[in-house]
Amino acid sequence: MKKFAAFLAIVVAVMFSAGVVISAEAPGKVTIKEIQKTKPPVVFDHKAHTTRAKACKDCHHKNEPGKEQKCSACHKASAEGKTVALKDAFHTTCRDCHKKMKGPTKCDDCHKK
Ligand code: HEC
Ligand code: HEC
Ligand code: HEC
Ligand code: HEC
Repeated sequence: MKKFAAFLAIVVAVMFSAGVVISAEAPGKVTIKEIQKTKPPVVFDHKAHTTRAKACKDCHHKNEPGKEQKCSACHKASAEGKTVALKDAFHTTCRDCHKKMKGPTKCDDCHKK
C-alpha cells in the first residue's frame, strides 16, 4: 500500500510538471493577423485546439515537440518551391480538419468582422 502511494505521488508529480511545461510554452487565444489585406483577422483558440488535434504535429508539421514555430517562420506571402504561401498553409490545414470534424468552414466563421 505504501509503495502504491509513493508510485501514485510520482505519477502525479510527472503529470503536473508536464502540464506546467505545456502551458508555459503553448499560447492560449491568439489573433492571427499576419497577412491583412482584405479580410478581418482570425481569432484562434490555440489552447482549445490542442485537444481537438491528436498531436501538436498535426499543425506544426515541421517542428519537433517543444520547438514549435509560427507558420510564418517558413511560409511567406507567396509560395517558394513546395512551401505553399502562408494563406494557403492556413486555409488547407484549418479547413481540411474543419471539414472532417465539423468545425466552421464559412469565410465569416473565421474572418469575424
Ligand atoms: C478555418 C478558418 C478560415 C476559414 C473558414 C477561412 N479562412 Fe481565410 N484565412 C484564415 C487565416 C487563419 C488566415 C490568415 C489571417 C492573417 O494572417 O491575417 C486567412 C487569410 C485569408 C486571406 C489573406 C489575408 C487578406 O486579408 O488578404 C484571404 C484573402 C482569405 N483568408 C479569404 C478567405 C475566404 C474568401 C474564405 C471563404 C471562402 C476564407 N478565407 C475562409 C482562416 C480561415
Ligand atoms: C490546430 C493547429 C495547432 C495545433 C494542434 C497546435 N498549434 Fe501551436 N500554433 C498554431 C498556429 C496557427 C500558431 C501561430 C499563430 C500565429 O501565427 O500567431 C501556433 C503557435 C504556437 C507557438 C508560438 C510560436 C511563436 O514563435 O510565437 C507555440 C510555442 C506553439 N504553437 C506550441 C504548440 C504546442 C506545444 C502544441 C501541442 C500541445 C500546439 N502548438 C498545437 C497551430 C496549432
Ligand atoms: C520549419 C518550416 C515550416 C514551418 C514552421 C511550417 N511549415 Fe508548412 N511546409 C513547410 C515546407 C518545406 C512545405 C513543403 C512541403 C513539405 O516539405 O512537406 C510545407 C507545406 C505545407 C502545406 C502543404 C502540404 C501539402 O501536402 O501540400 C501546408 C498546408 C502547410 N505547410 C501548413 C503549415 C501550417 C499551418 C504551419 C503552422 C502551424 C506550418 N505549415 C509551419 C515548412 C514549414
Ligand atoms: C485537428 C482539427 C482542427 C484543426 C487542424 C483546426 N481546427 Fe479549428 N476547430 C476544430 C473543431 C473540431 C472545431 C469546432 C469545435 C466545437 O464546435 O466544439 C473548431 C473550431 C474553430 C473555430 C470556432 C471557435 C472555436 O474555437 O470553437 C475557429 C475560429 C477555428 N476553429 C479556427 C481554426 C484555425 C484558424 C485553424 C488553423 C490555424 C484551425 N481552426 C485548425 C478543429 C480543428
